[in-house]
Amino acid sequence: LPPVLTIDGPSGAGKGTVSRIVARHLGWHYLDSGALYRAVGVAASWADIDTSDASALVRCTFDTKVQFVEQGESLRVLVNGTDATDELRLETTGALASAIAAISEVRAALKERQRAFRLAPGLVADGRDMGTVIFPDAPFKVFLTASAEERALRRHKQLKEKGVSVNFEDLLREIMARDARDAQRAVAPLRPADDAVLIDTSGIGIDDVVARVLGLVPT
Ligand code: CDP
Repeated sequence: LPPVLTIDGPSGAGKGTVSRIVARHLGWHYLDSGALYRAVGVAASWADIDTSDASALVRCTFDTKVQFVEQGESLRVLVNGTDATDELRLETTGALASAIAAISEVRAALKERQRAFRLAPGLVADGRDMGTVIFPDAPFKVFLTASAEERALRRHKQLKEKGVSVNFEDLLREIMARDARDAQRAVAPLRPADDAVLIDTSGIGIDDVVARVLGLVPT
């Protein structure tokens, strides 16, 4: 089987950015597993499925076709053939994805689809349970963290660039509440794999984090 580098961690730790750069460096495939949960969320909202209707959400997971299409520098995501890249990034979609991700049948339904990304010459898998559940035998595992303050700051900056003004304290409280929920939920609680290398990205630039991650993979 081709090698896998798993990069797990809470939202705002820089997983997405680091994973993409590392994948490009290595010339490996890239799996954005969060996008799969988000895609199911988008498809469910298109189909007017209620978030409390678990069996409809499970059916929707099986029925939803997700395609990742490279378009120059950007990666577009097609949901049932329609470009949903922008809708995928919305906060409302993230919240929907997180509710859907708490359903164990949904997680089970996405398992094999995620494993199918393991193609030569290798895969960088970005998510929450890549090193623990989806690719437990991965030879390279990283768990990225950052303090809640740092993650709130980054999010604050991102939103400001988008022209959205939010209160920093509110953002911080939200992130801390979500951390507690993610760590305590019954289904796939967020935790590092026993054999993962922990990297705290607080106060470290992206380049340094990328260098540390690349240092784990012999070339
Ligand atoms: O950056 P953020 O964590 O908000 O977004 P994401 O990585 O796109 O994931 C969206 C949601 O899907 C998260 O809130 C997680 O609850 C869930 N997720 C998951 O449960 N397992 C994964 N492997 C990836 C995402």
